Amino acid sequence: MPCCRYPEPVDTQPRSFGSDNHAGAHPEVVRAIADANAGHVPAYGADPWTATAARSLREAFGASEAFFVFTGTAANVLGISLLLRPFEAVICADSSHLNVDECGAAERVLGNKLIAVPTPDGKLTPELVAARLGGRGDEHRAQPRVVEIAQATECGTCYTLAELAQLGEFCRAQGLYLYIDGARLANAAAHLRCELADLARHADVLSFGGTKNGAVAAEAVLVMREDLVPAAAFHRKQQMQLGSKMRFLAAQFTALLEDKLWLRNAQHANAMAQRLASGIAGVPGVRLRYPVQSNAVFATLAPGHIAALRRDWLFYTWDEPGGVVRWMTAFDTTPEEVDEFAAAVRSSCPG
Ligand SMILES: Cc1ncc(COP(=O)(O)O)c(C=O)c1O
Repeated sequence: MPCCRYPEPVDTQPRSFGSDNHAGAHPEVVRAIADANAGHVPAYGADPWTATAARSLREAFGASEAFFVFTGTAANVLGISLLLRPFEAVICADSSHLNVDECGAAERVLGNKLIAVPTPDGKLTPELVAARLGGRGDEHRAQPRVVEIAQATECGTCYTLAELAQLGEFCRAQGLYLYIDGARLANAAAHLRCELADLARHADVLSFGGTKNGAVAAEAVLVMREDLVPAAAFHRKQQMQLGSKMRFLAAQFTALLEDKLWLRNAQHANAMAQRLASGIAGVPGVRLRYPVQSNAVFATLAPGHIAALRRDWLFYTWDEPGGVVRWMTAFDTTPEEVDEFAAAVRSSCPG
């Protein structure tokens, strides 16, 4: 692939701080899939596993309804599709996954404009959004209608609850909808020590990522407003996300919600990122690029240093000048792996 962020496909099992997507599935999730593999039940979500998982999600989020889909990109497209008319636009951070890493899915599938806003840390503020509202009412301009944020962001940072509340209030006052990409919502909740409902209450629609938290191709879209629910099932089907064997997605969420496995997984991943950040502190030429608030450590390194480390470890470089790398931890990252990697960062330091 002609992109510096993603290395060539590998035929070995590299030692990886590349992504939480590199991890396998949590054993409890695998067990839940196996348990759901019992007999015939009606398809397309009309099964007991889907009913149970959707009920648990509605309760955990204070949501009107939950819809299961296969990928985070699909969750974003579905969630945003509930909120837009054809001439309306989405304001998002220019670094957002929606803008950078979804191959223009929202623009292609929905046909709406994304208004990408530069931010210092992946986070939008009411001021940054307000600066993009100038063309409202002008029939020549796409009309901003949705503010899209990610919690945690693509930079690994988290909105505080106060920042979320401010943005939510601003959106409501301005007649804008707030959509939250929650591919790593669990990591944000763990960082903020809050409930999922504390994050969800500021949004009109949000996603809840299962895959990066130990699930297999399972994401949920939470619709917070009753009036948005009736159309959602039709949008999901048209967007090819209505799984016939829905029970296998749903069962995974029940496993993640049981005894808050989602939280334990996220707490562990976040703790491993903190351990890595501490382990590399003081290495000459290595600087943290963003505060470590979830399971991502972004750092700036000399190009030679990156190349030396990459001989033995898999991780991605970021499209930013100045040698930015992203090191990600997962629910199954061990302290020993972190310590070994931190030692490698130290020992491969050119200075
Ligand atoms: C913040 C965020 N949102 C959405 C996605 C999309 O998930 P998927 O790759 O499953 O489409 C990702 C994937 O890395 C992500 O990091």
